[in-house]
Amino acid sequence: MFSFSDTGRCVWVNGPVIVGAGPSGLAVAAGLKEQAVPFVILDRADCIASLWQKCTYDRLKLHLPKQFCQLPKFPFPDHYPEYPNKKQFIEYLESYARHFDINPQFNETVESAKYDEACKLWRVKTIYPNGCEVEYICQWLVVATGENAERVVPEIEGLQNFGGDVIHACDYKSGENFRGKRVVVVGCGNSGMEVSLDLCHHDAKPSMVVRSSVHVLPREVFGKSTFELAMSMLKWLPLWLVDKILLVLAWMILGNIEKCGLKRPSVGPLELKNTQGKTPVLDIGALEKIKSREIKVVPGIKKFSCGMVEFVNGEKLEIDAVVMATGYRSNVPYWLQESEFFSKNGFPKAPFPNGWKGKEGLYAVGFTMRGLSGASADAMKISKDIGKVWKEDLNQKKQKVPTHRRCISTF
Ligand SMILES: Cc1cc2nc3c(=O)[nH]c(=O)nc-3n(C[C@H](O)[C@H](O)[C@H](O)COP(=O)(O)OP(=O)(O)OC[C@H]3O[C@@H](n4cnc5c(N)ncnc54)[C@H](O)[C@@H]3O)c2cc1C
Ligand SMILES: NC(=O)c1ccc[n+]([C@@H]2O[C@H](COP(=O)([O-])OP(=O)(O)OC[C@H]3O[C@@H](n4cnc5c(N)ncnc54)[C@H](OP(=O)(O)O)[C@@H]3O)[C@@H](O)[C@H]2O)c1
Repeated sequence: MFSFSDTGRCVWVNGPVIVGAGPSGLAVAAGLKEQAVPFVILDRADCIASLWQKCTYDRLKLHLPKQFCQLPKFPFPDHYPEYPNKKQFIEYLESYARHFDINPQFNETVESAKYDEACKLWRVKTIYPNGCEVEYICQWLVVATGENAERVVPEIEGLQNFGGDVIHACDYKSGENFRGKRVVVVGCGNSGMEVSLDLCHHDAKPSMVVRSSVHVLPREVFGKSTFELAMSMLKWLPLWLVDKILLVLAWMILGNIEKCGLKRPSVGPLELKNTQGKTPVLDIGALEKIKSREIKVVPGIKKFSCGMVEFVNGEKLEIDAVVMATGYRSNVPYWLQESEFFSKNGFPKAPFPNGWKGKEGLYAVGFTMRGLSGASADAMKISKDIGKVWKEDLNQKKQKVPTHRRCISTF
């Protein structure tokens, strides 16, 4: 099964290699376990679901009701609230991995993956923190590295001269360290809104940068989740009409958000999500703080200078710290040497529900821009698809070492 060389190790994987042990990778792994298909699951971090364990703030709760966030074949415990918090979600994922006996290989960063035409197999190269390298050879490659693999940090003039603390939202845990401080939060997505709200709760003074426009929707409408309501309406009504209804409901519940300096996009919230991947903000309290001016809305940033920020309207503000809630990006283009299935932005070219399967045994899970429910839908299709081929191979007694393995070499 293994062969070694001086510089690295080469491993034949009898089954797929799954890159990423977040919710998506775990969900595929669970589906494969159920069908007794062997696999290797790799993660660069030292734990499962590292985005949730290491890159999220303390006050985080799931935005959607739990039935939309559970992974296949393993519901949330009954005693969990409608919107589980971060700790509960991580505990759920830990028990998911235990239940299906999923044991990822940690601290292995996938540096490159390439389909070897000669061998008709994937070659996946990883590196450990100590520099040791491994090459995995496999028939199937499942990309589960997530839509939020790398932080986006914009280059803004003068930031290097600012002098105060500058962090990305993925390193923000709570407002405790910002008590009494004047903080500019760059970005008004769900992260920017919730970080600003958390800063208020810790007696800091946040100013939130809104450089363009944003859809804010209530998390619930008349006691029912807005997301659930939208999904139900979409079964009967066209998307444009559902968007219009959502905006009327938002106006009734939240009022005219433009009065608070939050300009709504001209395209409706669901259409914007589908066409540009821009998630609407589900409000859990930030809007009240904006209305009461505890969160100040400020325009785009022109430049920073020592202890100061200047906005595009010429206004200047003395500040102590900056939180970049400027989002994330996929890292697939950095390591996957393939351009037919994935586009340059690291997402599959085919939109949901068709972006899960490429050619030559390549799969993508968790790139639907539909959060955990989209990941679960992908995962079930992928594990079923691989399981089918696996069983056919078994039935035909083709589980002998394939002839094309003869060309495998160590590196
Ligand atoms: C703050 C925040 C809150 C969110 N809240 C919700 C929510 O309430 N509901 C919802 O549906 N979605 C939410 N999301 C979206 C989020 O993308 C999903 O919840 C979920 O984490 C996606 O799972 P995933 O496995 O696809 O990706 P991830 O959870 O990002 O997991 C990907 C894994 O791949 C690993 N990895 C990446 N690159 C490599 C590499 N080169 N080599 C090896 N391993 C690698 C990472 O270490 C990571 O463990 C939230 C996102 C953020 C940032
Ligand atoms: N509780 C939850 O469920 C929860 C909480 C947080 C996040 N999330 C999810 O996590 C994902 C990422 O959310 P996110 O809020 O981190 O990122 P995001 O949705 O991508 O938002 C990024 C924000 O940063 C702004 N921005 C980027 N560069 C900027 C610049 N140079 N100057 C000013 N503003 C700039 C963007 O403005 P423009 O629009 O103008 O580009 C946008 O407002 C989303 O799917 C989100 O729903 C969920």
